[in-house]
Amino acid sequence: MSHHDHTADPAKDDDEMDMFTQQFWDERYAGSTRVWSGKPNQRLVEQVTGLAAGRALDVGCGEGADVVWLAQQGWLAAGIDVSQMAIERGAEHAAELGVADRTTWARVDVLGGEPVPGGMDLVTASFLHPPLALFAQTFGAIAGAVRSGGTLLVVGHHPADASTGLRNPALAHLLFAPEQVVACLPAGAWEVVVAEGQTRETTNADGDTITITDTVVRAVRH
Ligand SMILES: C[S@@+](CC[C@H](N)C(=O)[O-])C[C@H]1O[C@@H](n2cnc3c(N)ncnc32)[C@H](O)[C@@H]1O
Repeated sequence: MSHHDHTADPAKDDDEMDMFTQQFWDERYAGSTRVWSGKPNQRLVEQVTGLAAGRALDVGCGEGADVVWLAQQGWLAAGIDVSQMAIERGAEHAAELGVADRTTWARVDVLGGEPVPGGMDLVTASFLHPPLALFAQTFGAIAGAVRSGGTLLVVGHHPADASTGLRNPALAHLLFAPEQVVACLPAGAWEVVVAEGQTRETTNADGDTITITDTVVRAVRH
């Protein structure tokens, strides 16, 4: 899976809830011909560079490029994902790159309500797109893993991307705006540092350069 754009975003026909199960994601990762890019998400690098390293958690970490990058920056970084295959690949990459001792990996079904490890200095979630019915509960649980004084970073595909033709139109309702994430953070308990759509250039399947928009929310817990 690319860490830059997710043009192959899934499942036109499947029941939408299947998209959040271990089986669905294990099959996605097993069937992927894409090789490990090793590149962290641009928004992670932009938002986290300069923060003092501590304990970090990446939720929906996929093959773990962001977790490995955090470990390389000095963080003690944990990756969780519903896909056992994804986290096994993440652990392998961490070992290859010599940061196994600064990373941990666990299969956790966050949308299914399994507990998220807490007390984190930094919690990140990139391109995790819960269905609306589970949106507040999921991001509430993710935000709850941040310790007092710690940072939450949520990155996703912005609804503006519905018009780029890049995303699967059948899944346009899963795109989310910064305000939807901010609404999951109890008022008064968080200082919202960044809540905006940020554009970047990418290449579509036809090789055209197009501009896409990321939802970026960064907040510090009081
Ligand atoms: C679009 S991928 C993003 C992966 C990675 N964060 C990145 O930016 O490349 C979404 C990830 O969310 C994970 N995911 C889906 N449902 C989940 C769930 N219920 N609990 C935990 N992770 C889940 C998938 O396995 C997948 O790795």
